[in-house]
Amino acid sequence: MELYIDTANINEIKEAAALGVLDGVTTNPSLIAKEGVDYNKRLAEICEVVKGPVSAEVISTDYAGMMKEAAVKRKIADNIVIKLPITIDGLKACKALSDDGVRTNMTLCFQPLQALMVAKAGAFLVSPFIGRVDDVGEDGMDLINRIRQIYDNYGFTTKLLAASIRHPKHMVDCALAGADVATVPMSVIKQMLQHPLTDTGLKKFVEDYKKAFGG
Ligand code: G3P
Repeated sequence: MELYIDTANINEIKEAAALGVLDGVTTNPSLIAKEGVDYNKRLAEICEVVKGPVSAEVISTDYAGMMKEAAVKRKIADNIVIKLPITIDGLKACKALSDDGVRTNMTLCFQPLQALMVAKAGAFLVSPFIGRVDDVGEDGMDLINRIRQIYDNYGFTTKLLAASIRHPKHMVDCALAGADVATVPMSVIKQMLQHPLTDTGLKKFVEDYKKAFGG
């Protein structure tokens, strides 16, 4: 399972990269707005730190605008992946970019047929949003399981990137469901390493050793 960090904060990206297990980065317009910096400059900085796929989302919602933005963003670095919304225009842009050898991440996926359509258009990644499905009283994991089954039924190579992950339970369920990639905030990456018994066990080991040998 690949692990991406979902942020546009360069310090968090550096901190996650230093762990040695980071495979990529996802950004979106809300995350970059939170940072208050130029989007393309920040993408260039991120691509210096992380050599795996870095998703750069377009702001335009029409086909021509998306293609124009994609033309600029794809030049930032070789590892840029163009992130597009799953709409009719987004699907067309996905097909055109995929045919041209550009990797795409199709975002805001909330039902399995959207994932089927973008796979047919050659998407590199599809991003179903688990947490936001849970937020409206439905089951985000059901979406992941259905997409996994559809992709496996037909041998689609589009990677299932579980997004909008809010807590470690989502991560465990995604790993069990066979999500190819999970993109998570730094807080969840840290939670994935935590267990109270690890902390108390470590404290006891150190105390016992010091009691016996000093130091
Ligand atoms: O990057 C898209 C996604 O991960 C957003 O997550 O928590 O804003 O629903 P969230």
